[in-house]
Amino acid sequence: MQTEKKIKDLRQVVKAARSQGKSIALIPTMGNLHEGHLQLIKQARDRYDFLVCSIFVNPLQFGANEDLGAYPRTLEADRESLEIENCDCLFLPSIEEIYGDSLELQTSIKVPGLTEKFCGSSRPGHFDGVATVVTKLFNMVQPDAAFFGLKDYQQFLVIRKLTQDLALDITIHGIETHREESGLAMSSRNNYLSEEQRQQAANLYSCLKDCAEKIAAGNSDFEQLEKAAKKALQKASLKPDYFQVCDADTLQPPSPVTSHFAILAAVYIGKSRLIDNIRFERS
Ligand code: PAF
Repeated sequence: MQTEKKIKDLRQVVKAARSQGKSIALIPTMGNLHEGHLQLIKQARDRYDFLVCSIFVNPLQFGANEDLGAYPRTLEADRESLEIENCDCLFLPSIEEIYGDSLELQTSIKVPGLTEKFCGSSRPGHFDGVATVVTKLFNMVQPDAAFFGLKDYQQFLVIRKLTQDLALDITIHGIETHREESGLAMSSRNNYLSEEQRQQAANLYSCLKDCAEKIAAGNSDFEQLEKAAKKALQKASLKPDYFQVCDADTLQPPSPVTSHFAILAAVYIGKSRLIDNIRFERS
């Protein structure tokens, strides 16, 4: 696996692969790779010839009081995992390489409509930071495809929308959430949890599943279901930020014709904030 730190070297490597007729896939990450990330790499490996994985802890998507400084950085272990998964190129840029001298004077990508609610309202500016860095990475690599985890479902929709709106010729793949045996979605932020908190956190997925089952069985009293779920979360020592049923394509409240549902949730536990979701059809 080659490691490139400069955009110009990355472009050369990708150009060489492309000149050999290889298809290119990009897997953008912030590192601290876990089995969820490795699933993205495996799925990309099955479908595309040349894989670029980026590791960049993007300061633009962290709020002032968030965990940018504490975000787990495990470069040597990440490198080993990428070698095992047969990744072709690791892109490891510095903050200056991506943003130059100033984070403030950046052209910014905004995706209205999908970003005002949920993580967008709890983390102002977060999705502008994500959309901006992902667009920059897309321009640097110009891949045929890019892979994202569906645990960050709102992020996935935002990236799919910006790709459509900016007419980027990139196939966006969303890969199903990888879970621990308890149901807890894999996340770098699980590293902040004690063993007891890990067990409590598993209740997030059981509440999502329980609510989804009730809706799938015909219950349409979404407000009451959300209230009951929040109560159940609190009982499990999880502090709900949001727990909301919505249309899976628009993230708006379900309409009478909604058939593709999503339930999005975020909870606080200790100093961590965890998100998860579930998606399902009801005809
Ligand atoms: O999901 C992530 O790890 C990040 O938000 C991403 C997509 C790599 C952008 O920094």
